[in-house]
Amino acid sequence: MSPTLLVIDTDPGVDDAAALLLALTSTEVELRAVTTVFGNVELATTTMNARRLLTLASRSDIPVAAGAARPLVHPQAQRADKWHGTDGLGGRADTLPAATPLDPRGAVTLLADVLRAAKTPVTLAPIGPLTNIALLLAVHPELAGKIDRIVAMGGALRGGNTTLAAEFNIYADPEAAHRVLAEESVPITLVPLDITMNCWVDGQWLDELAAAGPRCATLAGVIDHGRKQHQRAFGEDRVVLHDAVAVLEAVVPGTLSCTSMPLSVECGFGADRGAVRRAESSDSRPVDVALSTDVPRLRAEILRRLLTLDGAAATA
Ligand code: RIB
Ligand code: CA
Repeated sequence: MSPTLLVIDTDPGVDDAAALLLALTSTEVELRAVTTVFGNVELATTTMNARRLLTLASRSDIPVAAGAARPLVHPQAQRADKWHGTDGLGGRADTLPAATPLDPRGAVTLLADVLRAAKTPVTLAPIGPLTNIALLLAVHPELAGKIDRIVAMGGALRGGNTTLAAEFNIYADPEAAHRVLAEESVPITLVPLDITMNCWVDGQWLDELAAAGPRCATLAGVIDHGRKQHQRAFGEDRVVLHDAVAVLEAVVPGTLSCTSMPLSVECGFGADRGAVRRAESSDSRPVDVALSTDVPRLRAEILRRLLTLDGAAATA
């Protein structure tokens, strides 16, 4: 069976780094491109980080293009450097090799070119704010049929992580999230905090990753900042790799158990801006919302794949 074609849209980002390398160590998918967006840190930094991560995995053949530096409509200046470090990679960006070249086409054009050239439908995995995906579908509605499905990390039905009501990726650009989650017709699986927060990995998991080889150790070093922040915030030796949970679903469809429901995104300016809720009316299209999984199996599967990073790359 030919591999699923995949594009990751990302704001690296500690958990984005794990998600990107998870895709690169998964034989079920062919990563055709990486596009970057503002989010955890500014666009220039997320873009540099994505390019360095591809070099780390010896995959400088994969094009990286930069997308939106800001939300669609209203500014949202809050970044997430507390959780990701000011360099976006836990203060360890300089432990990664030099960046691969930047594709000059820009994210929307690169996404459109990949979709046009694809002989089979493409899976898009946005794991940051949804700005680039909203722009792609607004500029190229004719390409929606080339998208097999979107697997997005974002949202929270029961309480956010950026405000009490909103999760970071949605809060960063609620208007873009409304467009993609409520108005577009492309099939979408949303992977919210409600499931990702249960999929934490612990110190033993991280120590096994760190001991597996130089590339795994570099990734574990990047994740270590998130581990320390989690310890400070929750008093537990754990870290939540939100984006890796979503990318494993993109790579192995059916990993997560979903419930179909129409969603609304709060775009007002009250305390619940960016909240994602089950929509009262069925005007909004149905979204597959991931709410449960076999967590021990998911943890083991993500680690098993990442551990091949050195083995696979060493032979590359
Ligand atoms: O809320 C978690 C999401 O926000 C993840 O994508 C993380 O990388 C941050 O961008
Ligand atoms: Ca992210």
